Amino acid sequence: MTPLISIKNLNFSYEKDLVLENISLDIYEKEFLAIIGPNGGGKTTLLKIILGLIKSKDVQKNTYKISYVPQDTNEHKDFPITPLELTLTGLANAKKYFGFCKNDKKRALEKLELVGASVFAHKRLSELSGGMRQRAMIARALIREPKLILLDEPTSSIDAIGQQQIFELLHKLSLDVGITLVSHNTNALFGYAQKIAHINKTLTLHDAQNVKPLDTNSHICEVELLQSFIQTQNSNKMQKR
Ligand SMILES: Nc1ncnc2c1ncn2[C@@H]1O[C@H](COP(=O)(O)OP(=O)(O)O)[C@@H](O)[C@H]1O
Ligand SMILES: [Mg+2]
Repeated sequence: MTPLISIKNLNFSYEKDLVLENISLDIYEKEFLAIIGPNGGGKTTLLKIILGLIKSKDVQKNTYKISYVPQDTNEHKDFPITPLELTLTGLANAKKYFGFCKNDKKRALEKLELVGASVFAHKRLSELSGGMRQRAMIARALIREPKLILLDEPTSSIDAIGQQQIFELLHKLSLDVGITLVSHNTNALFGYAQKIAHINKTLTLHDAQNVKPLDTNSHICEVELLQSFIQTQNSNKMQKR
């Protein structure tokens, strides 16, 4: 299968020092990929390179139908707009000169329905919970009918239950569209992401099926998760011998 995105031996620096070093990664259709790693590790930079906001010759794109849900900062939550209007802005480039037709609104409402936010379609964003605002952002990403949606820490300002629900939603959506998600909540990713990429300048890709939480009742921090990666890798090596 041809990957949607193929990155080969990518090196990138803003200034002198390398921010990303020798990164190779293929992203396939309908794949749920989670990107984890420490602050400053290069996660957002990699998303921007995939999107084309930062140009790189080491990235081959086999689709331009990519949507982006930027980091949720809570900054614009008072912006006077409804989820329906927000969703329609996903079409804004194409529709700038023509306005939205009835059919666009129908599609926007369908996308809001799909993400479980249709009852709030006509409310102000400022009246909604963080989780509902993020759902509206996801509806906005979906209305472009993308092959791939990139999300940068979409749940950082949402409570634990809300985060879990967003992961469930993204998992459901990944039956139809590729999902690449940056998240700090590694614990919540279990059972949802198929692959986990750890980025700290270099990238290590893991098959999520081989990674088990160490203790399902407690919070799993990233270090513990990595330990369990290493254990899995070692036991795989032992088995191959
Ligand atoms: N526009 C920029 N100019 C210069 N350095 C940047 C810029 N954006 C990010 N960086 C640096 O690149 C590194 C990776 O940043 P980033 O991709 O935002 O990491 P992450 O998303 O994993 O926290 C950091 O050291 C950061 O300071
Ligand atoms: Mg970031």
